[in-house]
Amino acid sequence: MLSNGFKSRVVKLGLLVLSIGLAGSVWAQSISDQQIAERLQPVGSVCLAGEECASGGATIAASAASAVFSAEATYDQYCAMCHNTGMAGAPERGDAAHWESRIADVGIDTVVTNAINGINAMPPRGMCSTCSDDQIAELVDYLSGNQTNR
Ligand code: HEC
Repeated sequence: MLSNGFKSRVVKLGLLVLSIGLAGSVWAQSISDQQIAERLQPVGSVCLAGEECASGGATIAASAASAVFSAEATYDQYCAMCHNTGMAGAPERGDAAHWESRIADVGIDTVVTNAINGINAMPPRGMCSTCSDDQIAELVDYLSGNQTNR
């Protein structure tokens, strides 16, 4: 027959073990919640123009923006409607003879400057207001059949 004193000590020990176990699992739970939250964080936080970006966000957003520029897609969106049809006298893409002699006559820099500032019926930046000067130069390259790389 065990004494009551020993029994109550066993019970207390049991409760102690139980509460350590509970505390431990609560602690473990909060750690894993935090880790899950960290893992759920997007690789680069998206930041919109005019909003403050989380550290590193601006760099990631900027490099993503330049990475997605495609001369072909931008040309199709802004330039093709005039330069694929010759609308209003626009020199056509694929008219290698035109572009070759034009670039030989005035130089590629003038041709790019004209595309940036506009000339006659050619609107400034071909109406691509978000295109940078470098991107316009790339578009001219694409439009003229890469004459500038020769
Ligand atoms: C609304 C019609 C229109 C759109 C859109 C347009 N262009 Fe033009 N573009 C013209 C016309 C017309 C000319 C001929 C201007 C002239 O020499 O009189 C021209 C000329 C040019 C020239 C030749 C400039 C030179 O000095 O010979 C380049 C380069 C050019 N465009 C690039 C572009 C690019 C790049 C885009 C798209 C971002 C674009 N254009 C969009 C109408 C357009």
